[in-house]
Amino acid sequence: VICTNATYHGNTAAVAQLSSIFEPAEGYGPHIRTVRWPDQYRTPDMTDVQTLTDIYLDDIRQAIQSLKEAGIPFAGMILCPIYANEGLPNIPEGYLEQATKIVRDAGGLIIADEVQAGFGRTGKMWGHQSTGFVPDIATMGKPMGNGHPLAGLVARDELVDRFREKDMYFNTFGGNPVSCAVGNAVLDVLENENLISNAASTGEYVLSGLRKLAKKHSIIGDVRGKGLFFGVDLVKDHISKEPAVEETRKLINDMKEHGILISSIGEFNNVLKIRPPLPFNKENAELLLEGINHCLSRL
Ligand SMILES: Cc1ncc(COP(=O)(O)O)c(C=O)c1O
Repeated sequence: VICTNATYHGNTAAVAQLSSIFEPAEGYGPHIRTVRWPDQYRTPDMTDVQTLTDIYLDDIRQAIQSLKEAGIPFAGMILCPIYANEGLPNIPEGYLEQATKIVRDAGGLIIADEVQAGFGRTGKMWGHQSTGFVPDIATMGKPMGNGHPLAGLVARDELVDRFREKDMYFNTFGGNPVSCAVGNAVLDVLENENLISNAASTGEYVLSGLRKLAKKHSIIGDVRGKGLFFGVDLVKDHISKEPAVEETRKLINDMKEHGILISSIGEFNNVLKIRPPLPFNKENAELLLEGINHCLSRL
């Protein structure tokens, strides 16, 4: 299985193997290959987007080749469609379509981990819709139950049928009525309160506010985001783009004192992770932007 070099997909035995930001205690098995996530901000010596895209696509080709040379059959590639844990990069145009093709041509499946990106977060129902590719399997959790433990998996019939032919699968809590009612309620609220279009419109508003803050505070190197999910990349300076890790940690704590909970993400842990609830409105957005401005001024 291929995953990126700065990701997290969970902590059961199989997915901990795919979590490159926290090394599993038992180490990595020989069946895992990591590839660089498609970064357009801190890029390896690139000349243009096409060259950059080719560099990252080549990583995938090499990973597949390396599995082949080791005699390990290729299963596929898992990715968060918006690369949330990697730091919400702006994904080079065409990268995901071509990556998907390379994986499928080699007989692999594309798994979209919608645990962070799904259920309207990006201003579309699914993260993969917002970054323009169609997965073979989608896994979902977290927002699916809005706090209640609920998770799911969607795949085409033939894949699920093959699994069922090989494995006898059941579990005690699968499909229990309480969790199903919660899941239905989440879908109702998303629909009835127009939360997906709210994520898109309020998200744009916050993004433009963050961009204004970037003009004022030089520590902000880059502002990225989709819907109601934002990444603010903090740097020591704009030329070296050296991650301002310590300042990020301080800012998050100052924000907490100020009554606003945010976190950090990214390969270097220097990207402010801002992921407000989906009913977030412009008034809430003003509060957030004022809070960030205030805490940045005190850094
Ligand atoms: C992208 C992604 N996938 C999977 C998970 C794991 O979800 P869970 O803790 O419900 O297993 C997380 C957790 O934060 C995540 O960020």
